[in-house]
Amino acid sequence: MKTPPTCTNPSDAGESPAGRWRLALEAWAIPEAIRQAAPESPWGFPTSLFSHAAAASLADPEPTPSRHRALDLLSAGATVLDVGAGGGAASLPLAPPVGWLVAVDESEAMLASFAAAAEERGVTHTEVAGRWPDIAPTTPVAEVVVCHHVTYNVADLVPFVTALDEHARRRVVIEMTERHPQSDLAPLWRSIHGLDRPSGPSADDAAAVVAALGYDVHLERFERASLWDGAPRGERVAFARRRLCVGPEYDAEIGAYLEERLTSGEDRRALVTLWWDRRC
Ligand SMILES: C[S@@+](CC[C@H](N)C(=O)[O-])C[C@H]1O[C@@H](n2cnc3c(N)ncnc32)[C@H](O)[C@@H]1O
Repeated sequence: MKTPPTCTNPSDAGESPAGRWRLALEAWAIPEAIRQAAPESPWGFPTSLFSHAAAASLADPEPTPSRHRALDLLSAGATVLDVGAGGGAASLPLAPPVGWLVAVDESEAMLASFAAAAEERGVTHTEVAGRWPDIAPTTPVAEVVVCHHVTYNVADLVPFVTALDEHARRRVVIEMTERHPQSDLAPLWRSIHGLDRPSGPSADDAAAVVAALGYDVHLERFERASLWDGAPRGERVAFARRRLCVGPEYDAEIGAYLEERLTSGEDRRALVTLWWDRRC
């Protein structure tokens, strides 16, 4: 039986930007039969990939719009809150001038990786384990709140974004891919499972949710190398295999597809920075 979509406000399903966002994400649900047959859970993020992302972000010689918008308002010793911090790709490059980094993540392993990288950088850091926005009431506020590559995991975007706003003294900076990050695997879903994947939602849809909350949201678009660039081939294949709900018998097909995207440059990521200043 198909489960009906659940909405924060059921009367609003699909009629508001937030309702449309939720419905578009629900369209990504994996059919039950495929999920049941999956050798491992298709969800979750490999810690090593995101500590690699943090190292790549620290080494990037060209600051992204996300970094510029955060640094605009940060003076020496300032505090930054990083929601869905992973290995710290969004916030570690802000220190210095930032003097205190607060990382929120639902994964203890990610927080351990974040803490190790912050130690290495010599910056004061605090980790808060839990799911945003549930954990928000016990999380410190900061000058700037950053949240990179988390929004496509969040069906209920309004309380998530509202809590980001309430924790920023000055500015919120969200970074996300232009399209759902799993869109890149669509050809493999078709060839392996005979399934077409959705095309939405997009960063513009997220911006519409933020704008409907009355925040003066700005968008800046840019490009970067794939998140996978430089990551070991085995890790890339294992992550895609997990998302695709299949076992290692598909590794050759997955590996060839990923390699082709990487070498052809198709794998470059179209990224968007969404930012707004806190209303006084
Ligand atoms: C794709 S990774 C991005 C990590 C990092 N921000 C970056 O840009 O490399 C998403 C991270 O957000 C965390 N996450 C996802 N949803 C979350 C939520 N609602 N609350 C807290 N953490 C969340 C995951 O555990 C993971 O570490």
